[in-house]
Amino acid sequence: MQKSILVLPGDGIGPEITEQAVRVLKAVTDGSDLALNFVDGLIGGAAYDAAGHPFPEETKKAAMAADAVLLGAVGGPQYDNLDRPLRPERGLLGIRSAMGLFANLRPAILYPQLADSSSLKPEVVAGLDILIVRELTGGVYFGQPRGIREVDGQREGFNTMHYNEAEIERIGRVAFEAAMQRNKKVCSVDKANVLETSELWREIMIRVAKDYPQVELTHMYVDNAAMQLVRWPKQFDVMVTENLFGDILSDQASMLTGSIGMLPSASLNDKGQGLYEPSHGSAPDIAGQGIANPLATILSAAMLLRYSFGRGDLADKIEAAVSHVLDQGLRTADICTPQDRKVSTTQMGDAVVAALD
Ligand code: NAD
Ligand code: IPM
Ligand code: MN
Repeated sequence: MQKSILVLPGDGIGPEITEQAVRVLKAVTDGSDLALNFVDGLIGGAAYDAAGHPFPEETKKAAMAADAVLLGAVGGPQYDNLDRPLRPERGLLGIRSAMGLFANLRPAILYPQLADSSSLKPEVVAGLDILIVRELTGGVYFGQPRGIREVDGQREGFNTMHYNEAEIERIGRVAFEAAMQRNKKVCSVDKANVLETSELWREIMIRVAKDYPQVELTHMYVDNAAMQLVRWPKQFDVMVTENLFGDILSDQASMLTGSIGMLPSASLNDKGQGLYEPSHGSAPDIAGQGIANPLATILSAAMLLRYSFGRGDLADKIEAAVSHVLDQGLRTADICTPQDRKVSTTQMGDAVVAALD
């Protein structure tokens, strides 16, 4: 079987971490019946610098043609004063929207070896395995109208949040299908006490739940969910929520796993295409130092093999290799405690590749 992967390293630590994930993908498929063909492309600030746009037409074509996309991260302070449509983040939103990647899966799993790296007590996070299902192509991120306008002699910024029934229903189905493969619990997170979008969201989730009688559906307001995530996170199995809430809650959940450098993601559409990226950003504060944690990207590559290529066997191998490396006490700075051996980004990649055998 021959498959092509479009690699979009992006900005900041993006190139450092995708390099390690590509090495792992090459190593895990070496000698297997899956032949991978890697194509490099531009996105974000790197694309703006080279081509004048954060999501060039060429990248769009390559993304549509590829069997899967692996992305690093975008953004950086040098781009923060560009016109909004030219900013790196718009490139990322552009590819998500162009590919229709409405379903963002962000699994927060604690590797037991990292119980002491979490900022929460080990007993609070031990055995943690939550799946956050974030709606990715709707809500306030994309709603029109938006902008900054002059009203009564002063400027005001405005954004619009909306969701239609079909958008809510399809992300709901993704969450319930995932729950059927897990512990059969869905917690829908909203702000139905204030927002009409949430009122509709809740109504549609209840409707979708009727098709999954074995799954228990609960509802939680987002402010309470933020609190419950740090109080007793193991009460959750699948959490489903809208775009902005999911962005915030997934960064929060990442710390339960020890570091944001551990949280992978898959963004899927209804045509079987997928984009895989770590949940974190371009980390400008540590870019170029060779110290970023590549594991979130490596674990995203495992998700790519599982979801886009149906190779759960190879994904399992990568995840087992990551676990083995953590057993060896190897840690990048973000997850390193005094008992561990601190390694660089490349050394972590080396260790995962070595552990594949
Ligand atoms: P960030 O996730 O880039 O960094 C937050 C903190 O986490 C920083 O201290 C950083 O050093 C650390 N961190 C992140 N990833 C790490 C890793 N792999 N290993 C070790 N430490 C890691 O968030 P930010 O600082 O708010 O944003 C920086 C830039 O990234 C902004 O331009 C933002 O728009 C962009 N961003 C992009 C994405 C993406 O591409 N998906 C996601 C979030 C933020
Ligand atoms: C993420 C990021 C993006 C988002 C930004 C960079 C557009 O924070 O992937 O979580 O908000 O979705
Ligand atoms: Mn985010």
